[in-house]
Amino acid sequence: MAIRRVGVVGCGLMGSGIAQVCAASGFETVVREVKPELVEKGLKGIEKNLARLAEKGAITAAAQGEIRGRLKGTTAIEDLKDCDLIVEAIIENLPAKHELFRALDGLCPASAIFASNTSSLTVTEIAAATKRPQRFVGLHFFNPVPVMKLVEVVRTIATDPAVYEEMVAFGAKLGKTPVRAHDSTGFIVNRLLVPYLLDAIRALEEGVGSIEDIDNSMKLGCGHPMGPLTLLDFVGLDTTYYISQIMFEEFHERRFASPPLLKRMVLAGWNGRKSGRGFYDYSDPANPKAMKY
Ligand code: CAA
Repeated sequence: MAIRRVGVVGCGLMGSGIAQVCAASGFETVVREVKPELVEKGLKGIEKNLARLAEKGAITAAAQGEIRGRLKGTTAIEDLKDCDLIVEAIIENLPAKHELFRALDGLCPASAIFASNTSSLTVTEIAAATKRPQRFVGLHFFNPVPVMKLVEVVRTIATDPAVYEEMVAFGAKLGKTPVRAHDSTGFIVNRLLVPYLLDAIRALEEGVGSIEDIDNSMKLGCGHPMGPLTLLDFVGLDTTYYISQIMFEEFHERRFASPPLLKRMVLAGWNGRKSGRGFYDYSDPANPKAMKY
């Protein structure tokens, strides 16, 4: 089955990035949000990204128009009924995902493939809300989606091997390198990344080094584009706290346990870049200032 039309549910940070990449790769793309202002905000962000790409000559002005022309925003779930593939990128909340997929299952033809961009929930459990677990995969993208070259393609014990191969090929059509992963909590990247990020917080708590020194160590010593505490602010401390709790519940291993400082920062609302403060203060976004904890 050829994928022509893709539905993306959620037009936040991840959903808008996924929609941009789908449209840029030639797919008719319908992106759905719950409120018109959220649709508008997501599409504006994509338009800004496309304009920047055109300005620096990465795409032509004609391509910029064509990509935008392939994108349609909507608040009506019915507008997704003709999609060959649905990629869900809504809040990491199982009841919310179940409600959405139950509705989509009743709306979309039996041939449509469903995918979730979940980073920590069990894909098998999300798929259980539908009558098509064999046509259900995880497609886990990375932030910022237009830049990061990876997509984890996740198969459950119920995924049809032909559907899975089609999704691996779809990941490649998006210009990403698809990696194959089983439906194990955190898949490959978060299995390795989350303990590393939590260890960086533990190192800070134990006074091994300052925020800048921990970040510089991994940037300059290991060639990472961002130090771990900067990356935590970028991903969101609330998001990381939530993922670590799910991973700890699943594996009961200390390496996935949230350090007390992370919990307290989340309770204080210091969630990183998006809230203006995390391990750094972003009052002047071009010049983040390390905090003292
Ligand atoms: N959207 C689109 N493009 C963006 C962008 C965004 N949000 N942010 C940066 N870019 C582009 C820039 O336009 C620039 O493009 P050119 O090279 O063509 O000019 C390029 O990315 C580099 O950007 P900058 O020069 O501004 O900054 P940088 O070199 O520091 O790169 C970065 C920024 C790509 C974010 C880089 O710091 C990086 O790779 N950081 C690590 C990000 C990471 O690890 N992400 C994964 C997080 S984990 C996750 O997402 C999954 C999960 O489940 C938690």
